[in-house]
Amino acid sequence: MKTRVCEILGIEYPILQGAMAWVSFAPLVAAVSNAGGLGIIGGTIFMPDQMRAEIRKVRELTDQPFGVNIISLHPMIQEILELLIEEKVLVATYGTGNPKKIIDRLKPGGVMSFPVVPTISAAARAEKDGADGVIVSGLEGGGHVGLMSTMALIPQARDQVKIPLVAAGGIADGRGMAAAFALGAEAIQMGTRFIVTKESPAHPKIKEQIIASKAEDTLVTGNITGLPVRCLRNPMSEKFTEMECSGKSKMEMALFGSGKMQLAFVQGDAENGSIMAGQIAGLIRDEPSCAELIQRMLKEFKETVQTLQSLL
Ligand SMILES: Cc1cc2nc3c(=O)[nH]c(=O)nc-3n(C[C@H](O)[C@H](O)[C@H](O)COP(=O)(O)O)c2cc1C
Repeated sequence: MKTRVCEILGIEYPILQGAMAWVSFAPLVAAVSNAGGLGIIGGTIFMPDQMRAEIRKVRELTDQPFGVNIISLHPMIQEILELLIEEKVLVATYGTGNPKKIIDRLKPGGVMSFPVVPTISAAARAEKDGADGVIVSGLEGGGHVGLMSTMALIPQARDQVKIPLVAAGGIADGRGMAAAFALGAEAIQMGTRFIVTKESPAHPKIKEQIIASKAEDTLVTGNITGLPVRCLRNPMSEKFTEMECSGKSKMEMALFGSGKMQLAFVQGDAENGSIMAGQIAGLIRDEPSCAELIQRMLKEFKETVQTLQSLL
């Protein structure tokens, strides 16, 4: 499959592994890239020296293209931008802050920018600011979410921007991929699906929780405090919601939430940790390797397109 996204990123298949803090470390990133997709380092949790070490670890495991996810609010963002340039990173993705400031530094340094946006206006702004591509991310997805669904975002973003368009949020198989392409996407990005793969370093207990979850088992915390996050329903997310509704301060909420992703994904505490995951978790029933997953999705994609053609 060749799309513009494949061409500019130099990848075989238009499938991106969404960056995931505490999950998309070097082994997962390299496995996705070796399987023909684009692995992306979840770099928001790293200080510059850790980021450099992770980039080098990926390079030891693959000679294929990969990306790095950053956060513009990082206290050492300038150093991080410089190291991405020094390390000749192919592409950076980022979901918060002013894309222009990042693009203005990365572009002349030879690093592409693919901002992750939750609205059509943000997609249009990313294009105007000089982004090389844009990832629209719907409220179905795991992690930080906006208010628009993927189904509504893709066609409206397609009509609004000319740069390569990637769809994220609620995609975990070839049917979802075909739907995203039908609406105008040129690649897809998946997070939750890649958590449950053989090469994913997520704790086995968390993988089990996702496999056991049903479609209705996610909720969004942070609606009141202003940082909405989709995660699995568990004692931690229920307590968080209860605290929010009882009017606890932003500081109290931030302290309660601090370190909870690591607790889940690294230490395997499925009760007290924050298990960020999307609504599509209910579709995930097995733990394939990244290569098996990507090949299966391509087969499903083809079958879906053939079925649709047969309707004509
Ligand atoms: C556990 C987890 C951690 C995530 N961490 C990040 C992150 O650090 N940076 C980011 O831009 N997106 C993050 N995301 C969002 C993903 O990159 C991706 O866009 C999203 O998961 C897509 O929706 P899906 O989960 O339905 O596939 C995270 C998602 C999950 C599930």
